[in-house]
Amino acid sequence: MNETQLENNYKLTSKYLDVTYINNKTGTEVVALQNINLDINEGEFICIVGPSGCGKTTFLNTVAGLLKPSGGEILLDNEKVEGPGDDRAMVFQTPSLFPWRTVMDNVMFGIEIQKRVSTETKKQAQEYINMVGLNGYERHYPHELSGGMQQRVNLARALTVDPSLLLLDEPFSALDAQTREFMQKELLRIWSETQKTSIFITHQIDEAVYLADRVFVFGARPGRVVDIVDVNIPRPRDLNIKRDPVFLQLIDHIWSIIEKESTKQGFE
Ligand SMILES: Nc1ncnc2c1ncn2[C@@H]1O[C@H](COP(=O)(O)OP(=O)(O)OP(=O)(O)O)[C@@H](O)[C@H]1O
Ligand SMILES: [Mg+2]
Repeated sequence: MNETQLENNYKLTSKYLDVTYINNKTGTEVVALQNINLDINEGEFICIVGPSGCGKTTFLNTVAGLLKPSGGEILLDNEKVEGPGDDRAMVFQTPSLFPWRTVMDNVMFGIEIQKRVSTETKKQAQEYINMVGLNGYERHYPHELSGGMQQRVNLARALTVDPSLLLLDEPFSALDAQTREFMQKELLRIWSETQKTSIFITHQIDEAVYLADRVFVFGARPGRVVDIVDVNIPRPRDLNIKRDPVFLQLIDHIWSIIEKESTKQGFE
């Protein structure tokens, strides 16, 4: 074990992380992330917010092992992330379901890839289908479901592989306002039942504060952490906490940081 891999108690650590994209044709470089240092505790719910292009997706993809750091490293359970693995599951902005597979077969997809199909894993899949509220829809096809229901299938699929880290990149952004709020509440319920460490990207500050234990605010050009905001609002959280003065203060605080960052970027 080298010096950078000394044991710590964190679930995930990002150390001096730099990610640069290089255009193979022109050779031009885009520094997407520079010197990201952060720690995430086991079971924590983290939200990342920040202006468009500040590297949120890049960070998540690096944690997922889909992108290689150009400098620094990501440690998951004290092990350096070298590539994708079964210990991490992603939920994307648009439900990436197979239209020709039923709900159950979509949920079982990750398990099939892992060659772990058994009575036990099927039972697990059914439990997660129930947990996301889709009991009775197992034999339906994606086109027979609403957008919110499709995102629930995505979530059930991610949970069924039993990852130790759940990565969510704007999973609710395609939903209407009402469905979105409902899904936020549902996600918190599911999270409190599963206790999975989660990293959730969103553009909506109120969504971030409602869901998170801590909100990481990223700034752009180059992407970096400009603030870490503790959300000391007790759980379980009802949707009406969104009208609470403490909640609104946190929103104001985060907004002012993002506004400053966006102005720097020329996004006025
Ligand atoms: N494949 C790529 N090749 C080159 N540059 C890229 C690539 N993907 C992203 N970038 C650049 O890296 C920066 C960060 O992009 P990223 O998608 O991580 O931002 P983001 O914070 O997720 O943005 P959004 O909020 O719009 O989703 C941007 O400047 C973007 O143009
Ligand atoms: Mg993104």
